[in-house]
Amino acid sequence: MTSPRHFIDISAVSAGDLRFMLDDARSRKERLKAGEREKPFAGKVLAMIFDKPSTRTRVSFDVGMRQLGGETIMLTGAEMQLGRSETIADTAKVLSRYVDAIMIRTTSHDRLLELAENAAVPVINGLTDDTHPCQIMADIMTFEEHRGSVKDRLFAWTGDGNNVLHSMLEASARFGFRLNVAVPAGSEPEPHYIEWAKANGGRVAIIHSAEEAVRDADCVVTDTWVSMGQEHRARGHNVFQPYQVNEELMRHAKDNALFMHCLPAHRGEEVTDAVIDGPHSVVFDEAENRLHAQKAVLAWCLNP
Ligand code: CP
Ligand code: NVA
Repeated sequence: MTSPRHFIDISAVSAGDLRFMLDDARSRKERLKAGEREKPFAGKVLAMIFDKPSTRTRVSFDVGMRQLGGETIMLTGAEMQLGRSETIADTAKVLSRYVDAIMIRTTSHDRLLELAENAAVPVINGLTDDTHPCQIMADIMTFEEHRGSVKDRLFAWTGDGNNVLHSMLEASARFGFRLNVAVPAGSEPEPHYIEWAKANGGRVAIIHSAEEAVRDADCVVTDTWVSMGQEHRARGHNVFQPYQVNEELMRHAKDNALFMHCLPAHRGEEVTDAVIDGPHSVVFDEAENRLHAQKAVLAWCLNP
């Protein structure tokens, strides 16, 4: 039996395959807008396990499967026997007998890896404490729709060094964009993501000044200061205030810089209303592109 094709992390997929998926996503988006209704996933079922809340991931995977003729089953870890200490490995083996693919949003990355190791069907990472690769696929797609190739462009991340940033670090190497990271001391991304990006040709700089990081940037990106499940590590907002994306900070980026945020946003904290609702912002395009990008991810996993 050949092993299934999982979508675990950007770093685990070749640059060629990532580009193939983005091309496919763009084409699927165009075909959908043109009114085409293809059903390549007829008879296929995606199980989705959520150990954390979700709006976009949940709805975009569900709608994506339905639009392509497939179906979904929505599960929460707490309501499964997982919540009564059935192992992840046994859960993976059982679900593999029923469904064609599994998407999981969970806490520790090890839970995702254990699920993938024991599943006979593709497993897709819908966010862990460590990474959020589906988000970054949608973000690259969104940038390129507005501004063309990401290659050699400058992205600036400001705020907390979290899961979304980890996937962006991996993407900087795979897609060849430059990435400046501005975070307060003590909120740096995990070193091994930086090391991996640099070892794979990524041009990454960790900077403590937000102004310096966003200077001449093509795209300014932020995210919540307190990720799901990290509430116990929450730091005072005064630590992050210098990293807020507001109109003054955006003035240091290029005039036509894009503003991105994976959402949900905490308006008035990591970003002001003026920026997220302003002319630079493409946050709702990013949210929409989750749908198109994930259809391409599903197709890549299901039809290797
Ligand atoms: N950006 C994102 O993953 O959103 P949800 O938490 O709503 O799924
Ligand atoms: N960093 C955020 C992303 C939410 C989509 C979190 O993990 O809560």
